Amino acid sequence: MGAPKGFPENFLWGGAIAANQAEGGYAEGGKGLSTADMVPYFEKKDYTNLRELMHVTSEKIETAIAHNSAEGYPKRYGIDFYHRYKEDIALFAELGFKAFRLSINWPRIFPNGDDAEPNEQGLKFYDEVFDELRKYGIEPVVTLSHYEMPISLVLNYGGWANRKVIDFYVKYAETVMNRYKNKVKYWLTFNEINTTIIEPFTGGGIVEDRVENVLEASYQALHHQFVASSLAVKLGRSINPDFRIGCMLARMIHYPATSRPEDVHQALVDNQLNLLHTDVQARGAYPAFVERYFEDNNIHLAKEPGDDQLLLDNTVDFISFSYYTSLVSTVTPEEYGVTGGNLYSTVKNPNLPVTEWGWQMDPVGLRIVLKEMYDRYGLPLFVVENGLGARDRMEEDGTINDDYRIDYLRKHISQMKEAVMDGVEVMGYTMWGAIDIISASTSEMSKRYGVIYVDQDDKGQGTLNRFRKKSFGWYKKAIASNGEDLD
Ligand code: BG6
Repeated sequence: MGAPKGFPENFLWGGAIAANQAEGGYAEGGKGLSTADMVPYFEKKDYTNLRELMHVTSEKIETAIAHNSAEGYPKRYGIDFYHRYKEDIALFAELGFKAFRLSINWPRIFPNGDDAEPNEQGLKFYDEVFDELRKYGIEPVVTLSHYEMPISLVLNYGGWANRKVIDFYVKYAETVMNRYKNKVKYWLTFNEINTTIIEPFTGGGIVEDRVENVLEASYQALHHQFVASSLAVKLGRSINPDFRIGCMLARMIHYPATSRPEDVHQALVDNQLNLLHTDVQARGAYPAFVERYFEDNNIHLAKEPGDDQLLLDNTVDFISFSYYTSLVSTVTPEEYGVTGGNLYSTVKNPNLPVTEWGWQMDPVGLRIVLKEMYDRYGLPLFVVENGLGARDRMEEDGTINDDYRIDYLRKHISQMKEAVMDGVEVMGYTMWGAIDIISASTSEMSKRYGVIYVDQDDKGQGTLNRFRKKSFGWYKKAIASNGEDLD
């Protein structure tokens, strides 16, 4: 047979978005408010401190709920995918997408989270979106929860720190998995599940000023999400045995700053903490090191009898992850400078260039991550987010010459191909954005990831017209050649 020479025939090329960053229509069609609807636009940014930027307090929530408009809250208007999805999907079809990753906006289906009945208008909206995708033979890849839980579950229950939320999620998962059982095959239970630890409000609906021990509450919330994810896997398999259900991790690979054993060990620890999530969801158990870690950090996890067995019996079919950047670990961070990164900042790696937002660009890191995760889990891997956030300029003739994005994608896809040739089973690649959307961390429109440009600025001004960037033609060619033509 020999080593694979390139991407498999059925490779799922495509793009990805999240409902809260794209849909808009925040109060239409019976939708309730979500955690994302609480985040205002902020002017001055320190990109090395995203957590501070994204921080949502009780006071901010109160102000946001009283604010009955989308103005100043970019995730409430997104790019109007809610009304323009047909036009957007036609462009994805033109690109030759085999797959499109999107999330279902939970409060569109259960506006308060604990409603007795689902909202039919919300269900109908996704029926139409999936039908439109199917019309072009595009496979939907659906994230059940992507930073958009109903705000009522935060206010009335304390978010995922409360075990009761598992039941609401399972009811929601059951509703949509049943409804779309013939339209959707690929499901992801939680986007970047590790965000619950890194940014507890965004990932777990935890308002930090309402809990005493934030880290403990975050791990408790995470445990509930693990249980909920396993229940969704179990349920999904009973609804349609053909479903393929995966977990999703923001893979943050840490390199040691030096070959000093202390730095190497620190990198190991940081990687263990990141891979803990996939260890639970793919292997079915918490890794051994957590006992001591929890003790040292005053974390007392409340588990119910049966939880461990449930996790063990309902592991995922595949592992999906986002990969944007690599990070650096050291026991002496004060010796180094700091740069930005996806959800948190890191020590600078002198070998890597950074984006305008300070994220270190490391295509080889993608190959390392793929090989290392395949060695560890032996499960198919799916790169469901990767891309470059950059400021694009439209020229007078209407062109957008984003050669830097082509360069980024080319290098990452090339490294992914190397990993495939190294024997790693990679199912697909859905680049982040595909179309420009609101940034998750900074709520900016000007941080653009797409190969499709959307005419809208940070204040929500613009025609919302869509334009093909230079990278559009490049990605189309890359897909048509199944990753062979990357020039
Ligand atoms: C991931 C998220 O962390 O990174 C996305 O899953 C997000 O929702 C993406 O948009 C890029 O991050 P940002 O902050 O640049 O939009």
